[in-house]
Amino acid sequence: MIRSKIAGIGMYIPDKLVTNNDLSKMMDTTDEWIQERTGIRERYYADRKAETTATMGMEAARVAIQRAGLTPQDIDFLIFATLSPDYYFPGCGVLVQRGLQMKEIGALDIRNQCSGFVYALSVADQYVKTGTYKNILVIGSEKHSFGLDFSTRGRNISVIFGDGAGAVVLQPTEKEDQGILSTHLHSDGESAELLAMYNPGTHANHWVDRELADFDEAENGQMFMSHAMIDKAQNFPFMDGPAVFKKAVVKFPEVIMEALTANGLVASDLRLLITHQANLRISQYVQHMMNLRDDQVHNNIQKYGNTTAASVPIALCEAWEEGKIKRGDLICLAVFGSGFTWGSALLRW
Ligand code: COA
Repeated sequence: MIRSKIAGIGMYIPDKLVTNNDLSKMMDTTDEWIQERTGIRERYYADRKAETTATMGMEAARVAIQRAGLTPQDIDFLIFATLSPDYYFPGCGVLVQRGLQMKEIGALDIRNQCSGFVYALSVADQYVKTGTYKNILVIGSEKHSFGLDFSTRGRNISVIFGDGAGAVVLQPTEKEDQGILSTHLHSDGESAELLAMYNPGTHANHWVDRELADFDEAENGQMFMSHAMIDKAQNFPFMDGPAVFKKAVVKFPEVIMEALTANGLVASDLRLLITHQANLRISQYVQHMMNLRDDQVHNNIQKYGNTTAASVPIALCEAWEEGKIKRGDLICLAVFGSGFTWGSALLRW
């Protein structure tokens, strides 16, 4: 039986450290509030000019590819997950194909926000298992700092997010005790507007009525982006934090249990659970619900903030670099985010 194994993993964190106190100089917030509600102490921001979501993704990819014992020319398919792409279109995948001078391989972009990496991993897994591709590069990368509202108006979101990238190379293995056992993906679009960036977009207020009713019909109906949208901060993400929190703490345990049950395993079999680093309080609640010890989870949101599609591969890479993961260990990756979308992947390292 063929499964996909992680043959190489890498991460990239930009240099610019931004503490909670740094943010409190830009908006009405405090280190105490941010740490108490989210667990975050600091995060890193990309260089505004020199670094993009694609270039950070390439940095992480270079490490993953080299650790897999490959060169970029050996990769035969790539998948890029992000919510902060370099361009509205084309996606970041082709920029990586160009930047790493890869062959003319397929480059797929995934738009599943915080769930993006597990969605991407799931797609890659199917290609590997069916024998379609042998070396698939999966990247999650975000440059949030370029699109946040750093005034007090945006403080509930801006304090949470950070920049960074993670990447893995998937390869086939026939070993019984290695590889991805299963992936589980879900969505519920009922609350799509509760965690979203509405513009640029083509909705013309069809779905979004909050504060937009007074928009000029012609302007709003015919443009991706208008001055009025910018005046109303529609070019920044919107989040109903408490609603996200409530749904996340239900869906995380549910989808982790789904993965374990599908494979006849239980939580105590886990060497490590890596949840999307949305909020330390959410991760701690999930740990408690799953009855896991501290050494069975890896959280790093304190250092990096929420890096959305990059958070799971960064946490996985860091845990591996710290020696927390050994060959054959059972690992569960679990994600939840905008959409709402959620999912899990259960694997043996
Ligand atoms: N600093 C200081 N005060 C802030 C603040 C900040 N950065 N952000 C919001 N506040 C204020 C609010 O304005 C509100 O003030 P009010 O009571 O005077 O109206 C108060 O804090 C409480 O706001 P609320 O949104 O109810 O706080 P909360 O306890 O729910 O915490 C989040 C806010 C965003 C930290 C929390 O809801 C959360 O983490 N939700 C999940 C978000 C998430 O995981 N997103 C990623 C999805 S993958």
